[in-house]
Amino acid sequence: MVARTSLISRRTVQKFRQTAISAAGSLKIKLLLLISFVFMLTLLASCTPSFFGWSQQSVPPVDRNSRKGYTLLINTWKRYDLLKQSISHYTSCPGLDSIHIVWSEPDPPSDPLVKFLNHVVKSNPKDGRHIELTFDINKEDSLNNRFKELKNPITDAVFSIDDDIIFPCSSVEFAFSVWQSAPDTMVGFVPRIHLINQSKENRYPYIYGGWWAVWWTGTYSMILSKASFFHTKYLRMYTNEMPTSLLEYVRRNRNCEDIAMSFLVANATGAPPIWAKGKIYEIGSTGISSLGGHSDKRTECVNRFVSEFGRMTLVPTTVKAVDSRSTWFW
Ligand SMILES: *[C@@H]1O[C@H](CO)[C@@H](O)[C@H](O)[C@H]1NC(C)=O
Ligand SMILES: *[C@@H]1O[C@H](CO)[C@@H](O)[C@H](O)[C@H]1NC(C)=O
Repeated sequence: MVARTSLISRRTVQKFRQTAISAAGSLKIKLLLLISFVFMLTLLASCTPSFFGWSQQSVPPVDRNSRKGYTLLINTWKRYDLLKQSISHYTSCPGLDSIHIVWSEPDPPSDPLVKFLNHVVKSNPKDGRHIELTFDINKEDSLNNRFKELKNPITDAVFSIDDDIIFPCSSVEFAFSVWQSAPDTMVGFVPRIHLINQSKENRYPYIYGGWWAVWWTGTYSMILSKASFFHTKYLRMYTNEMPTSLLEYVRRNRNCEDIAMSFLVANATGAPPIWAKGKIYEIGSTGISSLGGHSDKRTECVNRFVSEFGRMTLVPTTVKAVDSRSTWFW
């Protein structure tokens, strides 16, 4: 009899415990729902700038007089419409102080083109800033022209760009601010990676990895100069300190001047470049990178440059700089 009572009471206790546990469970779920509801409300409320009395105005604007901006270094080849479009766009960006157009065509720029661009440079800046416009005329057509030393640079920062892609001013200014916190580093929008060929007896130990490889691995070791900030001193180093055989290789193959620049900067800093998040608009055809066999040629360049420098100078990284105003979570 005693044994039976204790059995019943044990069962009752067990049942009671289960009910208690499930009650606690549903309470937790309700609490979770409530928290997410409050969170959603906060999120919605924070979309209006007056939330908590914070607005865009409470962030102090950057004082343009107390610091220098950047020089736009644009490479162009017989695409005058793209050039006009690019220059028109970038002259509206607040940090732009001067423009160098790398000109390697046999004929000098035409009068109407020069007139048009001079007009754009004068009339476009909204705050009445003076922007210097210079054509850097080259006799020879070589890809090394795009990294010739600037004669009288008025800024430390160079924004190197191709004429067929456009970045909104907000992206450019963001990348510029990243560069200012690391002025020896290359900062830009188009990352690439070097990979290692695992197979034995390979001709080339390193492989050039394009956009897909960067996407797949989340890693990069180069920033292409078709859209990047770097210090103007690297133009001097590219022109004067690069091995002549390497410059000759770039000139002959008409390729890889951007990889060479990445090797040079990495050799000087021992550090990786910085990939800045930005919006890209392609306004022209994709040019050389859409031609077949491009990746093989680039792989050849990487391996060639390793032997020119005596070591692999590129440093891989997974860091990406993002504007914290456009991210929700810490
Ligand atoms: C790796 O090297 C081997 C041997 O040279 C070659 O056949 C293969 O294509 C290389 N892999 C890549 C991805 O280039
Ligand atoms: C690479 O770095 C080494 C060591 O700092 C330096 O001696 C060499 O001149 C650099 N090479 C180039 C091409 O800048």
